[in-house]
Amino acid sequence: MIKRFVFGKPLETEAVLKKPEPSQGAIPWMERTEKGLSYVLEARDIVYGLGQNVRGINKRGWIYESSCNDEPNHLEDTHSLYGAHNFLLVSGDACFGLFVDTPGKVIFDVGYTHYDRMEISLEEQDFDLYVIDGETPEAIVREFRGLIGRSYLPPKWAFGFGQCRWSYMSADEVREVAKNCRENHIPLDMIYLDIDYMERYKDFTVNRETFPDFEELVEELRRQGIRLIPIIDGGVKVEEGYEVYEEGVKQNYFCKDAEGEDFVVGVWPGKCHFPDMLNDEARRWFGRKYKYLLDMGIEGFWNDMNEPAIFYSEKRLRKVFEKIDAYKTMNLDVNTFFEFQDLVSTLAKNPEDYRSFYHNYRGERIRHDKVHNLFGYYMTRSASEAFDELEPDKRILLYSRASYIGMHRYGGIWMGDNKSWWSHLLMNLKMLPSLNMCGFLYTGADLGGFGADTTEDLLLRWLALGIFTPLMRNHSAAGTRRQEPYAFDHTQTAADIIQIRYRLLPYIYSEYMKAALRNEMYARPLGFVWDDDEIARRVEDQIMIGESVMIAPVYEQNAAGRMVYLPESMKLLRFKNAQVTEETVLEKGHHYIDVPLDEVVLFIRKGHLLPLAAGGETVEQVDWNELELYYLEDGKKIVYELYDDDGTGKTVRLEENISRIEV
Ligand code: GLC
Repeated sequence: MIKRFVFGKPLETEAVLKKPEPSQGAIPWMERTEKGLSYVLEARDIVYGLGQNVRGINKRGWIYESSCNDEPNHLEDTHSLYGAHNFLLVSGDACFGLFVDTPGKVIFDVGYTHYDRMEISLEEQDFDLYVIDGETPEAIVREFRGLIGRSYLPPKWAFGFGQCRWSYMSADEVREVAKNCRENHIPLDMIYLDIDYMERYKDFTVNRETFPDFEELVEELRRQGIRLIPIIDGGVKVEEGYEVYEEGVKQNYFCKDAEGEDFVVGVWPGKCHFPDMLNDEARRWFGRKYKYLLDMGIEGFWNDMNEPAIFYSEKRLRKVFEKIDAYKTMNLDVNTFFEFQDLVSTLAKNPEDYRSFYHNYRGERIRHDKVHNLFGYYMTRSASEAFDELEPDKRILLYSRASYIGMHRYGGIWMGDNKSWWSHLLMNLKMLPSLNMCGFLYTGADLGGFGADTTEDLLLRWLALGIFTPLMRNHSAAGTRRQEPYAFDHTQTAADIIQIRYRLLPYIYSEYMKAALRNEMYARPLGFVWDDDEIARRVEDQIMIGESVMIAPVYEQNAAGRMVYLPESMKLLRFKNAQVTEETVLEKGHHYIDVPLDEVVLFIRKGHLLPLAAGGETVEQVDWNELELYYLEDGKKIVYELYDDDGTGKTVRLEENISRIEV
């Protein structure tokens, strides 16, 4: 049961597809406060959700800010990342879901100020509140997902492995990556192009000096079963003669400053304008620009810097330079030194800058900060809606860095600029179920870690988790140690781990598509499955992947294994050299499991089945018909619904595409 409460005059976000009639009367469970809402947390309550955030699967004990943030420091004391996902679920003696729909900032104080209170405060008191009742956490999530609409469906090949780096600088370097992977039998379906493929970081251009034969490159890689996936950034370079810039200026498609001039910010190319993604016409225009690359054979994109990220605004930069001048002759002391330092360090993402530009939203002039959380969502929507026109019959790979609930219908997200830290491997695991609750099923982290130097063992352990995430991509920042799967000594081990992903593909694709089409979760906390098992409810380092598989990745350096909790008897499946080398039935309870660096272990739930294909080096090579079946009997017939389709069509019929495997 969903109840909607309306406060003030909420701005339309289009997160929800069909809004229920507003309810009158009291809000169940919660108290209305001056700033928002308040709820008393009982000892048994777990607070799930809030999508992309640091900390636990259980969000209690911290304060989270919903405000899309270009934040490269994913630390324990970070309050917001790239997405704004205002859905949470309380599971304890009470069980209910809550969605706060507003495009501005929301603060979720989940037992931070007061250990046993959750306080939700909003900057603006205009919002839609949805309170969802249900018997179980899963039932509540299903209701919520029904409200916000079906999750994005990527093409089947996007479930393969992708290799990325900021940046592969030339066509030759890209060819080299493909060659190294193919020579080492590392399965590969995608190579990513980061900002340097463009001419001077201009969206919808190609640097013809470094990529002279771009179209041929696309074609040549395609013949090897590899797709090239270019990045598109949220800001458009200010440059005379650049078509996108000139058109945008002429048609008034860019965001304006207070004086009505096109707002100037600095991002990768230097001076940029932001396309007004909230203006329907501008959004349509921007989306059609992807055609330039589609026409060259491109079939997938990643949208970046769309929080939107700001290095500086032109006006602030000018003021800062003036001030710096004044400091030149000063004796910089304890006060003035720090003031001086802050001048530059507060240039990027300055809150005042977000309050100094405007959108034309449905004919109304709206200050950016009031709709901040919609920018990335609407950018991705612009591409997706254009693809519906330009490629009506073909699924295009699309994912974004910034997002708001609603965007999950148009694309996936990646988890942003993590670091090559062991703690971030664990964070990757914890974020999966929270994102799934909000509809973001196609997601994953930069495997191996983006910032900082990785180590070979971290990469291998991270790949061993990444084989279960729908988006499986190795990506690293400029200046860091190379971390392609062939960059270290044990290339064969890396290849074998990635090969397990390709063996799992029929399962992963089936579980993904069923979850998307039935409004269910692909990755679930154990507490969603074993809601009455107090130990399972508190497990923060194991999750369910689909209906049959529980994973318990190793996330500590030099560990030779780990403790695993089994909420019921399960079958352990061990892989070495991409082959199953052990099948052991383990009883309910705690077990220490050895997991050497070159092995992968998973657990199969009783009464459920895991089909395994023979594998392949591209998704296309994987044979869905020859499957090995692994399961643990529980005295009843086991039925597994295997999903398959052509992998590219936009119209999918769930029941017709399911075949039942029975044992
Ligand atoms: C941002 C992205 C990262 C990318 C970089 C350069 O930091 O999050 O993935 O590599 O920009 O484009």
